[in-house]
Amino acid sequence: MATKNIDWANIGFGYMKTDYRYVSNYKDGKWDDGVITADDKVVLSECAGVLQYAQTCFEGLKAYRTEDGKVVCFRPDLNAERMVNSAKRLEMPVFPEDRFVKAVEEVVKANIDWVPPYGTGATLYIRPYMFGSNPVIGVKPADEYQFRIFVTPVGPYFKGGAKPIVIKVSDFDRAAPHGTGHVKAGLNYAMSLHAIVTAHEEGFAENIYLDPATRTKIEETGGANLIFVDREGNLTIQKSDSILPSITRRSLHIVAEKYLGAKVTEREVLLSEVEDGAFVECGLCGTAAVISPVGKINDHGKEICFESGMEEMGPVTKKLYDTLTGIQMGRIEGPEGWVHVIE
Ligand code: PLP
Ligand code: COI
Repeated sequence: MATKNIDWANIGFGYMKTDYRYVSNYKDGKWDDGVITADDKVVLSECAGVLQYAQTCFEGLKAYRTEDGKVVCFRPDLNAERMVNSAKRLEMPVFPEDRFVKAVEEVVKANIDWVPPYGTGATLYIRPYMFGSNPVIGVKPADEYQFRIFVTPVGPYFKGGAKPIVIKVSDFDRAAPHGTGHVKAGLNYAMSLHAIVTAHEEGFAENIYLDPATRTKIEETGGANLIFVDREGNLTIQKSDSILPSITRRSLHIVAEKYLGAKVTEREVLLSEVEDGAFVECGLCGTAAVISPVGKINDHGKEICFESGMEEMGPVTKKLYDTLTGIQMGRIEGPEGWVHVIE
């Protein structure tokens, strides 16, 4: 057993087939025991619920190698809980939370050679997901499901790592009021693909979506929540029923208060106040994004430039980033229960 020979410092956010994955099937009203398998292929009916009506949800978390050589993951209980909420919203059976965490441990242990070494900047991304697998033709939930977890080593989500990005205010909506924006349904991402391709073609790294009802409030980006820092160094976080409750954002709330002594406010954030210069730093936060600094927001040609600029992260964003990743990599003691040791 030896760590794979990969140029860890230069990998991007992509899929690499690793040795093992976890699979459990749901049939006749119950989940089977689940196995670790080398088989990366999924064979399905042409009429499977996931293929016809997109009945699928997923999660994302990471395994980290710490400074003292352990392999850990970050608050996996919250991913398990969020997947329960996603499953319920999509009329899928719940995969028990304790089994979710155990399956994460098993699949990481089975692929331990794929956990990037400490200090390389790479991590092992863990992707749990579930889908309706039996034939469904009338619009209704499937009766059979598959829950799987694969892992893949990843580098930074945005090219350039910690370099500030430019994002645009999108004309498309990500989530409807009373829709599925607050759960991690595959369909939320399918409907964002045209918007992300358009943004990339126009030279932007991501989209900011507005609330679909009034188009005045900032929601989130395609794959991350947003944080804003004001001139006093305090944090403002968007509050909305139609954004994904990011585990990174919920953790940063606590990090900012407890480790940085900053004030944190969760409230609706208007695009107009961002345009009026209420904030000096802005960042995207999520498992994949970690904290990616935003240098500019482009609103239909009008540029909102944050004082932190286009060269590096603003000072408060940097402190948040260093503290969060410090906890994840074992350099800083985290709150009780945040760091889950796998090996
Ligand atoms: N918002 C969206 C739409 C996402 O896809 C993600 C990624 O999981 C996040 C926010 C960040 O959530 P988390 O911090 O739990 O990874
Ligand atoms: C994650 O951060 O885990 C996500 O699922 C976001 C996705 C855009 C990669």
